[in-house]
Formats: sequence, structure tokens, C-alpha cells
Amino acid sequence: MILRRSAPLCLVLGLATSLAGATGVFAADSATSSIASYTLIAPKSEVPSGLLARAVIASGAGCPALTGRTGRGQSFALRMQLRPKPALAGAAYSAVEVCERGIPTGTVSAMVGSRVIPASLPSRIERIALSGDSGCRISSWEVQDCSNTSAWPLARISRNMAKDNPDVIINLGDYFYREAVCPATDQGLCASNPPPPGNLPVTGSAMGWIADALIPMQPVFDAAPILMVRGNHESCARGGIGFFLFFSPQRSTALQCAPEMVDGAVVVPSNDISPTWNATWLVGDSDATAHTLDLEIIDSAYGQDGTVDAYAATQRSSYVAAASHVAKSRPDEAWLLTHRPIFGMISTQFTDGGPVWTSADQAAASQGLLGGFSLVLSSHIHVAQAVNIPGQPAQIVLGNGATELDPTTGYDTPTYGPLSNVDGSALSPLATPYPAPTSTWTDVRFGYVIATPGARSTSWMFEHRDQRGKPFASCAVAKRSANCKATT
Ligand SMILES: [Fe+2]
Ligand SMILES: [Fe+2]
Repeated sequence: MILRRSAPLCLVLGLATSLAGATGVFAADSATSSIASYTLIAPKSEVPSGLLARAVIASGAGCPALTGRTGRGQSFALRMQLRPKPALAGAAYSAVEVCERGIPTGTVSAMVGSRVIPASLPSRIERIALSGDSGCRISSWEVQDCSNTSAWPLARISRNMAKDNPDVIINLGDYFYREAVCPATDQGLCASNPPPPGNLPVTGSAMGWIADALIPMQPVFDAAPILMVRGNHESCARGGIGFFLFFSPQRSTALQCAPEMVDGAVVVPSNDISPTWNATWLVGDSDATAHTLDLEIIDSAYGQDGTVDAYAATQRSSYVAAASHVAKSRPDEAWLLTHRPIFGMISTQFTDGGPVWTSADQAAASQGLLGGFSLVLSSHIHVAQAVNIPGQPAQIVLGNGATELDPTTGYDTPTYGPLSNVDGSALSPLATPYPAPTSTWTDVRFGYVIATPGARSTSWMFEHRDQRGKPFASCAVAKRSANCKATT
């Protein structure tokens, strides 16, 4: 969400930021010069196992080997390949290179260089960790205390999430928030923040990504394979080059945000959308309740939040692809993962009396295509939230993953539905208003979710945990509805 505060949060003196530590990580794995290594959930069309090993290395260090062992006792050593990097990314990304290799099916242990990485998913998944909106906000109007582990608790959340032993991790996007030079008045909060490149029409850089994501997320990288969703902070003009270099699991997207020379000026694409992809897992708390869960992953980096415009028609193809795959593959259950929520409410403190529903372009683009889904998972609004719209899948929002939170008040259940004005009239002639929600729930504190399947097939418990790992609320998910309550 874009905040509309007039004054930056500069009340707390901070310690020196962690970037000095970030550069030190270049030497953390001396055998490979690996800055970070992790296992991405990837489309089966990319790699039959659905798992892709990545290593971020200092440029010129040479890719480490991917080594491991299969369940049949066979060892393997595979050469990792450099992921293509945009030629005109220049100095902004010159410090690093990214190596990748598909993990062979049947692997039981794997290493990148001398570092162990998650090698497999369990045959039946019982525990999913989820979060979103994680970067430390540095903008011209708002500065988070990037050196304070309570004010920007991504490292703490990562550690506690890892301690919860998830089988798999889902991150719902908006990783990159270090979009401005640290203001002179806020040096105590962000003194050693890597500045935007300056010579590219983007705000992201390799060093910014290292500080905002690659280092603080290492505990979750070590814990389990991770599925990464693209957020609007990963649009090409922002952190997009880094997202497609580090976190997109599709090889075809490596150069999606590549800068180009047009009429003597360097430009980056806009309104680019990467293809919808999917992952299917066997989930359940026992063999008796085991069932297939299909995840459809949408790129919603673009689009209007407060209005419906022509972009909705462009974005619709993403949701058509998702709905078509669900209809064709007929899983027992399907979740839609899209960074911008389809049924998400912002605080009335942001609306000036207007409607609270956001991501109007996504709501319009997906209209009529959600029948196969039981749940929509998003972030984008910096709160934890659940919304039930009659006849639609439940919407859960998890935008409380460490980025500066939204206001703590202003989330009363509206008497009008998404794509409506406050009086219930249509927001746009391009889309039909939804009915008012039957219930909503919002909690504004940092944290994450551990989701576990229930005793009944397709029922789930989403347990919200704070930055220290302490449960504070739970949402029972069943029959396309999410019913949340505070932990007592
Ligand atoms: Fe965000
Ligand atoms: Fe966002």
C-alpha cells in the first residue's frame, strides 16, 4: 500500500544498518563465495521435481556445483548454470551473478557448494508457512528503522518461521522497499542503505536486494523450499530486475525487466506480466485426509488499486489461465495466489470517505473466474486480514511480514461490496459490484501464518503468529470461508 503520511517516522535513533554485514556475507561460504542459496518451488514444466536450486554469488566467483544424493543412494554432482542477467543492468547488478540448476527428482539431500539446501518436499505436506510484504521502507516520505529488529523484524520473523519447521514456505510479494537515498534527517535509521542506482530508471540494485531480502531471509531459505510471488514493488521500474534474477522460478523470465535503449534513452518495460504458473501438492494431516491442492500463481505487479481501467482487460488473461488450469486438472482444492488482493480493504484513514476496497483492476480482471477456488491469498495491504464475500472464495491478506504497517484502525466491515462506491453504486461501467461482505477481520501487527490442514478434507487452520512466533489469532478455513478470532 502507498502510505499518505506527511512526516517520516524518524523518532527512533537506530543503530548502524546491516549492510556492512551484508558485504561480509560475500565471505560467509568461502568454498563457493555464495551470498545466498535457496530452493525455489518451480513449475514442473521448468524442472520435473518442481524444485530449482539457486545460488547468488559474487561476480566472477564461478558457479558452485549442485551435489546430492537420491533415495536410491546414488550421488550426483551437477554444474549450475548462470542465470541470464540484463546487459544494460550495468553497475546496479554488477556485484553478483545467479547460478541455478533443477534438483533431480528423488533427491533426499542436496548442497550448493558447501551449503546444505532443502532437497525435497515431503510426500504429504502438513505445514505451510506464509507471509508477505517484507522489505524495509525507505522512501522520500517514510523511513523505517532498518537496523532495529523490532521496527523492521524480517530477520526475526525469518528465524521464528524457520523454527516452526514448515514443509514449504509461501511469500506473497513486495520484497524490495529500499527505493530512495536515506534522507539526511534519518541517518540514524538507514545510514548505510544502498541507494538506487541513479543511472537506470529503476530503484532496485543487487546491494539493495541483499540487504532487504537475501540476508534476512536466509533462515527460511535453509528451512524449506520457498514459493515466491511477484509484488508491485517488483515492477520493472522498481525491484523487478532483482525479482527476475533472484526469485522468479521461470527460466524464460530472466530478462523480463531488461532495460533497453530507445531513442538514446534507457527504458524498462511496463505492464509486463509473467505467465501464470501452478504447483500441485498432496496435503493433509493424515493419509485418510490426503488430497490434492493446486496453487495458481498470478503476477499482479501492475494495475490500479482505486479504479478500474483498461489494464484490467490485459490482466484478465492471467486469471483465465488460472481458471482454465483448475478446470482441466480438477484438483480436490485450489488456492489463488495474487499479490494484490481481490477482496481487500484498506483503512478508512487512507480513503478520504471513498470506498475501502482496493486492487479494483484485479477484482475486475478476475470477475467470473473464481468458481474453482476455495481461497485467495494475497498481501499488499500491510495488515493481516480475512474477508468473506457471498459466493466467492475467502480472501486472506498477509501483508504484515515486516514492512511498515498500515494504520491500526479504520477496518469496520463495509456495507457495500468490492467494485462499489460507498453508496453501493458501480465503481466502474467496466465491472459489476460484488455484494457486501458477510464478515471481515483485520489485525495490525507484524507476523506470519502457519497453515495446517484440518481433520476434514479441504479444511485448514491458519494460525497467525507475531514476530516472536507467539500465536495471536487463528482463522478456520472451510467451505470457501475464513472465520478468524483472537487467540485467548
Ligand atoms: Fe506492500
Ligand atoms: Fe504491494
